[in-house]
Amino acid sequence: MPALSVFHFKTDWCENMDLTSQEKEMLDGKRGHAAKKSMEILVALGAIFGAARLVPVKSVQIAGVSYDNLGDAGLEYLESLSKDGKVTVKTTLNPAGMDLENYKSLGISEDFAIKQKEVISAFVKMGVDASCTCTPYYVGNKPGLGEHVAWSESSAVAYANSVLGARTNREGGPSALAAAICGRTPMYGMHLAENRQAQVVVKLGRAIKTTAEFGALGKAIGDKIGNKIPLIVGVKKPGGECLKSLSASIATYGGTSMFHMEGVTPEKTIVPKAGIIITEKDIAAALASMNDDGAEPDLIALGCPHLSLGEMEKISSVFAGKKVVVETWLCVSRGVYKQACELGIAEAITASGAKIACDTCMVVAPVAGRWKCVGTDSAKSCYYSRAKNKFKVRVASFDACLSYAISKRWD
Ligand code: F3S
Repeated sequence: MPALSVFHFKTDWCENMDLTSQEKEMLDGKRGHAAKKSMEILVALGAIFGAARLVPVKSVQIAGVSYDNLGDAGLEYLESLSKDGKVTVKTTLNPAGMDLENYKSLGISEDFAIKQKEVISAFVKMGVDASCTCTPYYVGNKPGLGEHVAWSESSAVAYANSVLGARTNREGGPSALAAAICGRTPMYGMHLAENRQAQVVVKLGRAIKTTAEFGALGKAIGDKIGNKIPLIVGVKKPGGECLKSLSASIATYGGTSMFHMEGVTPEKTIVPKAGIIITEKDIAAALASMNDDGAEPDLIALGCPHLSLGEMEKISSVFAGKKVVVETWLCVSRGVYKQACELGIAEAITASGAKIACDTCMVVAPVAGRWKCVGTDSAKSCYYSRAKNKFKVRVASFDACLSYAISKRWD
């Protein structure tokens, strides 16, 4: 996040925006320093994107939580806002750089932990729920059809727009926090119905089932149409986990914040004339491009985006009575982990020697260079494991990754 000193607000930015008296008071500093700075960010963004006004938001989800990404400049920014800043709507956090309770078991240093805790403290002081997950919709931050929100995690943004029918742009960390403090966001982009219409019909030429294949579909679509909004047809009853995987992948490889899917997206769209077909060959090519030849994982990492309760159940049943023979990280929100504990699902997982990594993930934790190759079912994790952490990658189905964790063989 940028230091406050580098942000210079120009008073003429607000001339073309219709602000309420309450919003003007925030901008004039009558509601404190944090509200003023936050309103300046929102008004500047609104001016850049031609928003006529701000729109109240039902909830906020803030990314940029890991100290590994924020550094001291980001921490300073948060601490300066936390002096008098308070969020005014439900606000949750993206994963942090460590499990906030069991960071030592994940090999996170004490120096990093001290800084990460300071980041979380600043958020909590402002009233943010430190849920630390990229699947907020599993733990109580689940907006409904047509509701305006300001979320920043790209996979969650695509899921919110496409599966839940909520309306959000992909916010940066500072603009999401500003929206949380002011309870509003500029009305542009994905908040407007005309920008949510499909632009290309994408027909699926073969049946796909696994989360890895849905990740490959997102990559294949992104590679072909970039950030255009697709209307995906021909997918048969996808499960929630497959939609989670597709949301993460399509946002990563294509940059779109939304897709329409026949039978899934609860919002109507025009049917565009332009169309493409994703063939069996396209899916196979996408999967092949996410597999580094000959690399054998020394880490299996599942939960990108964070695991659902159903996925935890599956892991528990496969790992019951077994031991992992490869280091295994299972990334999950603390909320879903608690549910797994209450249902007696977590015990078999812990007994297997697999590490349950709450509040964090294999990408945002400070683990660059720690392993040679990560095995995962996630196309998004593949992208960032290579780009950020310099790992080689094997992408396989969820079941195949579990099997590898306990046998070191691809079945
Ligand atoms: Fe979530 Fe980390 Fe993946 S934040 S979407 S598990 S990169």
